[in-house]
Amino acid sequence: MSKRIVALPGDGIGTEIMDSALTILEEIMVQDNLDFDIEHFAFGGAGIDEKGDPLPEETLNACENADAILLGAIGGPKWDNAPKRPEQGLLGLRKALGLFANIRPISVPDAVIHLSPLKEENVRGVDFVVVRELTGGIYFGEKKLGETEASDLCTYSKGEIQRIIRKAFEIARTRKKKVTSVDKANVLATSKLWRKTAEEVAQEFPDCTLEHQLVDSAAMVMIQKPKAFDVIVTENLFGDILSDEASVIPGSLGMMPSASHSESGPSLYEPIHGSAPDIANQNIANPMSMILSAAMMLRQSFSLESSAKKIEDACDRVMNQGILTTDLGGKATTTDFTESVLKELRGA
Ligand code: NAD
Ligand code: IPM
Ligand code: MN
Repeated sequence: MSKRIVALPGDGIGTEIMDSALTILEEIMVQDNLDFDIEHFAFGGAGIDEKGDPLPEETLNACENADAILLGAIGGPKWDNAPKRPEQGLLGLRKALGLFANIRPISVPDAVIHLSPLKEENVRGVDFVVVRELTGGIYFGEKKLGETEASDLCTYSKGEIQRIIRKAFEIARTRKKKVTSVDKANVLATSKLWRKTAEEVAQEFPDCTLEHQLVDSAAMVMIQKPKAFDVIVTENLFGDILSDEASVIPGSLGMMPSASHSESGPSLYEPIHGSAPDIANQNIANPMSMILSAAMMLRQSFSLESSAKKIEDACDRVMNQGILTTDLGGKATTTDFTESVLKELRGA
């Protein structure tokens, strides 16, 4: 039976990199005889323009009934003062689908090791995953915005912490079995509950180790010796910031995919970066983040390991040929890079 994939290209480079990922996906569908029904829906700024809402009802309905969702990126200066910003649509979608576990893998392809701003010996072999809590914390607490005072409430329930810590351990079990829980337990109440809960959940995983790190020092260690990490688990805002920081290790946000999972229901796959208004409509965005997000979808939603690997290997081979987009100092356009991956997939 055919699998329903909802594509939400969104705004800015979102549409350009979605085109790339779907070109690659269509090739894989032919090669591996996969039956995907891919339908596009308006979302983010495009949702506001087309339907007056960043998360139109029909888009949400389609996502709820999908087998998986691919999202490009949303946002841009055009909608910065909209009554409901594109970002609200994104947060609303994550919340509505219960996408609490955001998985952001960090590794450095051989072809770009020398391009990292960090020392080569610290970068070679980096392989960790940021497990970011995605539907709680300060993003979703009560907000007050007055003329002279404003506040954002950060709350976490024990249940919300338990399920994300469990997720991190489950992932660690398939890897090097080490979980680093990142918090600010020297100051924040939510972090104190986080740390205590992490200790308790760790008892369920005696084959794994748990360490705690304060977020400020974790931000430093991530640059100083990134090989120290296997699985990092952290709350929503810290995970947002640390994962963008982590993108400096391989050298560009444009290579970074992610997967977001709920307890049951469709998962969503999206780059960790945004709509990059500074480079939109120039055909220069690095499409790898989106192509690799599609590969994550094949692996994690549809257990199509070999199809996913084929795409990842083709991207590696293209970069090994020195075909790089401008974010990595190369000259390839978005479409050049995509065509090169396509050629690799076709064995040309
Ligand atoms: P951004 O992630 O869009 O861009 C940061 C920098 O990285 C820019 O210089 C950009 O050119 C570069 N970059 C990002 N992706 C790239 C790619 N694929 N190839 C090459 N270079 C790339 O962050 P920003 O500029 O702070 O935010 C722009 C908009 O995106 C804002 O409206 C923000 O809210 C939104 N945003 C959306 C998402 C999302 O859709 N999930 C994520 C982050 C930011
Ligand atoms: C991300 C983005 C979003 C976030 C914004 C656009 C709401 O930065 O996906 O990392 O903060 O979660
Ligand atoms: Mn972010």
